Amino acid sequence: MTSEHPTPSRASQPSADSEGVRLQKVLSQAGVASRRAAEEMIVEGRIEVDGEVVTELGRRVDPATAVIHVDGDRVMVNENLTHLVLNKPRGILCTMSDDQGRPCIGDYLRERQGKLFHVGRLDQDTEGLLLITNDGELANRLMHPSYRVRKTYLADVLGPVPKGLGQRLRNGVELDDGPVKVDRFKLVDVNQNRALVEIVLHEGRKHIVRRLLKHVGLPVQRLVRTQIGEVRLTTERPGAIRPLNRQEISSLYRAVGL
Ligand code: URA
Repeated sequence: MTSEHPTPSRASQPSADSEGVRLQKVLSQAGVASRRAAEEMIVEGRIEVDGEVVTELGRRVDPATAVIHVDGDRVMVNENLTHLVLNKPRGILCTMSDDQGRPCIGDYLRERQGKLFHVGRLDQDTEGLLLITNDGELANRLMHPSYRVRKTYLADVLGPVPKGLGQRLRNGVELDDGPVKVDRFKLVDVNQNRALVEIVLHEGRKHIVRRLLKHVGLPVQRLVRTQIGEVRLTTERPGAIRPLNRQEISSLYRAVGL
């Protein structure tokens, strides 16, 4: 295959052809494979750069701008991109700064460089998984209902939980601002007049879980988001932040077609 960016000879002067970093080096630095194995992957046609399959080994890319997929999964080669999980504590406002000086998620991110976005919001009294990134396009898409990214919540409610509730919620109920359906409902535990229920849904209207459960007679006492797409809260304590791993990042980009 003819290269759009042929490998320059050692003696060549700086030019457009000599700019960038060799694709196999970029892939190995991103942890995809050793340089040797990355070369094989390139030759096998498993690597796409900016939407085009690259099979020649001389290709150089700019890691700051190249969009690289391996076997269809996005690989992060831009070290300036940040993807984090914050386990938002209860009582903390979901905003980067508060003009009244109230505790907010920005307090947990002060040390981090650059502009960060929180993906969607959690109520002040809701805890749990909040994605933080500086990739604005990713954040926008993850929040957009058309991508149907699933969010999982654990809710501690005042019971009793009526029989057939799961089916009713999967069929959908009518709230003030329109209908809502859940993707999944599970009764996790019952303890006297309290119950722990798990709800999965793919929309993000304000207070949606609390309003939905109140509507069916189950006022929420405590609400925790435990998962978005394939990213889960693991052992992070409230207020802890962790970087997403490579699989988690790829899964988010895949979920929104990036
Ligand atoms: N639903 C709610 O009611 N609150 C949240 O914070 C998130 C979803």
